[in-house]
Parts: sequence; structure tokens; C-alpha cells
Amino acid sequence: TDPTKYEFLQVTSPRPGVAQVTLHRPRALNALSTPLITELNASLTHINASPSIGCVVLTGSEKAFAAGADIKEMAPLTFSQAYTTSFIESWSQLTSTLKKPLIAAVSGHALGGGCELALMADVLYCTASANFGQPEIKLGTIPGAGGSQRLTRAIGKSRAMELILTGRFFSGDEAERWGVAARSFPTHEALMEGALATAETIAGYSRVAVMAAKEVVNKSQDLALRDGVEYERRVFHSLFGSHDQKIGMKAFAEKKNPEWSHE
Ligand code: CAA
Repeated sequence: TDPTKYEFLQVTSPRPGVAQVTLHRPRALNALSTPLITELNASLTHINASPSIGCVVLTGSEKAFAAGADIKEMAPLTFSQAYTTSFIESWSQLTSTLKKPLIAAVSGHALGGGCELALMADVLYCTASANFGQPEIKLGTIPGAGGSQRLTRAIGKSRAMELILTGRFFSGDEAERWGVAARSFPTHEALMEGALATAETIAGYSRVAVMAAKEVVNKSQDLALRDGVEYERRVFHSLFGSHDQKIGMKAFAEKKNPEWSHE
């Protein structure tokens, strides 16, 4: 899907309408260095603009989704370097640039920034034995890519506080029970199959409706309930202006499969 050659990523299209972005920095357990994040942002920008792609799967290896921000890169940073270069801010492009749904398929370590990257996904799938955690406290620092906010919203204050203050790891099994992960799978193979099947299902729907659905669900994280419900209704009303709403409802009446125009 993307002609660009990446050093730290593999980008493929294993199913119709699906892009798979695989973090590939095996010698550092996919530690998220600035060059890796720059490539990730470039690939997501490309995927976002690619009309043939409807959904993205972001994954790592069986051993590591990502073991965090690159500690060797961070160690010598000064406050003014971190502040003036807005260190870590570019990671948020995953949540701002990409209008298409992104499923994180997490196997192995998802620690620190790796856990935070997974938490930025629209849907999180993992293996039951995946190893999540926010161990920054052990390095004399704190989460810096949204962990204290997204993990707390996902699992509540007391649990998040315990994990962030102790650095204790939690399993994929716990992640599923707490609702951080939508599903956990017994093996890496089952995880990838599950993630790609869900991505293919999503990619088979109207792009306009899928993007609108992602947008309104995300708004629920920022808006009060009354404002959120009103926002949803506005976007719902606006979809009566799309071709695909007419196509989808006509196909239902005619007992046919809809052929989406994606408009
Ligand atoms: N940054 C840089 N390099 C890393 C790394 C990281 N986050 N995690 C692992 N690596 C490197 C190791 O240094 C090692 O490289 P060398 O062979 O050159 O020494 C290689 O990856 C393999 O790692 P290990 O030998 O440690 O592998 P292991 O299987 O024994 O242990 C592990 C695995 C438990 C994940 C361990 O590597 C570890 O604890 N990693 C650090 C996890 C961490 O603290 N992450 C949080 C980072 S801070 C952060 O992310 C800030 C933020 O909020 C944005």
C-alpha cells in the first residue's frame, strides 16, 4: 500500500481493504525511538490518504508489541531539550491524523510507551499472556504519552494509581477482564487472525459511516453526556446526506448486499 521503504516498520495489506503496520525493531524489542515514531506517522498519513484502505492493524512481534520509549535516547535529555522539541508530542498523531479505525494487536511486552501506544488504538486485542505495564516509576519518571489519563479512564483511578505507582505488570487476561482490551486470544496466531478478521469486516463497510462512527465514539471521551449525545445526533443527521446511507437502506429493502460508494 505504501511505496516508501521503512527501516523500523513493515507495511502490508494482508486482507482486502486492510493495512497491517508491523513495528520491526527486533533488537530493541520495538523500543519507540523518534525515528520509529516518525516512520509510523508517515505510514499512517499515507494510509489515511489511501482510498483502498478502510482499517489498520498495528502490531509488533510475538515477543514484543513495544517495550516503551527508547530509554537510551531519553537518558541524556535535558528539560529544555524535551520542552523545546515537544518530546513525545508527535506520538499523538496516531490519534489526530488517522480517521480510519486502528486495531492494536498486542502480543508480548507492551510497556511504558508501548502500553500507551496500545491504549491510543480504537480497538485493543491482545494475547492472554501479553505483558502490559507502566514501569516508568522504576526509571525515576512517569508515563509521558497519555498513560496516566487513558489507563485511568479505562480501568478506574484506584487500579491505575496502583499500577502507575508500583510499576507492576498486568497480563492480557487482566486487560480483557478490566475492559482495556476488547478481547484476548490464546495464541499469537489466533490474535492476528482475530484482528485481521475484524479489520476486514470494518473495511467492508461504508468508509463515510465508519469514520463517523469512530469520530462520535471518540467524542464520548472528551464531552459531557448531554453534549456528546447532541454531537452524535448532528453527525447522524449529516449521514442522511451521504450516498451510502441511501445505498445501505435500499439494499436492505431489496434484500441485497450493499455496494458501497464510500461517498
Ligand atoms: N528502550 C531502549 N532499549 C530497550 C528498551 C527500551 N524501552 N527495552 C528493551 N530494550 C533493549 C535492551 O536494552 C536490550 O538491548 P541490548 O541487547 O543492546 O542490551 C534489548 O532491548 C533486549 O532487552 P532485554 O535484554 O532487557 O530483554 P529481556 O527479555 O531480558 O527483558 C523487558 C524484556 C522486561 C521488556 C526489558 O527489556 C525491560 O524492562 N525494558 C524496559 C521497559 C520499560 O521500562 N519501558 C518504559 C520506558 S519509559 C517510557 O516509555 C516513557 C513514556 O511513557 C513515553
